[in-house]
Amino acid sequence: MSVTVRTLQQCKNEGRKFSVLTAYDATFAHRISEAGVDAILVGDSLGMVVQGNSSTLPVSVDEMAYHTAAVARGNQGALIMSDLPFLAAATPERALDASLKVMQAGAHMVKIEGAAWLADTVQLLKRNGVPVCVHMGLTPQAVNAFGGYRVQGRDEDSARQLIQDAVALEKAGAAVLLLECVPRDVSRQLLSSVTIPVIGIGAAPECDGQVLVMHDMLGLTPGKPARFVRNFMLDAGGDINAAFRAYDSAVKAGTFPADEHCF
Ligand code: KIV
Ligand code: NA
Repeated sequence: MSVTVRTLQQCKNEGRKFSVLTAYDATFAHRISEAGVDAILVGDSLGMVVQGNSSTLPVSVDEMAYHTAAVARGNQGALIMSDLPFLAAATPERALDASLKVMQAGAHMVKIEGAAWLADTVQLLKRNGVPVCVHMGLTPQAVNAFGGYRVQGRDEDSARQLIQDAVALEKAGAAVLLLECVPRDVSRQLLSSVTIPVIGIGAAPECDGQVLVMHDMLGLTPGKPARFVRNFMLDAGGDINAAFRAYDSAVKAGTFPADEHCF
């Protein structure tokens, strides 16, 4: 049976955790979905891990559609979420045009980075049959505005703003939220303020779902891994399929993330 946006909401309502991994091609999409992972994120992280750029900014909508189509061909029933890349959601109309491309390529929903100012965009997409996940907290497309990849919501004002924005986005019709690099206690407050599923990465074990970049959890990314990354290849004795299964099990059992992965 295929996973839909309703499945994620049901998981949340029933207190069952769901797992998400990124993929950018058919082979890995096949293996990840076969391992039981509920959703595949075709992330604009492909600009870094596939294309070798130093940020996600160079990725185009056409490239997102190309990788989404490849993932859709390999997918075995996971929900496919595709990123709208840098500035593709700068206006509601641009977001609609970009969504047309990735949805026709095989995405089941789109993810856009930002906050409450995306409410009109979320509403317009939803009205047109496009479920939206809003990526909040550390939004990597804003790396230049942040002056680096930094934990967000650390002070009281920004934490309060983050939670207010999450509530506004749920009201606007967002189907899912994704929280990246937000302190655990702030993540928990946010979780208790909304009723839609929240996916975490560097957020909190209490999130309804967890996501990692596939290359990170396989231990393939050069350099020191981020705090929120766990190398599941080590647990899996070097077997990629086993690593995907171990990740899925750990998320669903609530053993990943642990305290050491949180801020
Ligand atoms: O592009 C991506 O892989 C992402 C995740 C890090 C959430 O947005
Ligand atoms: Na992304």
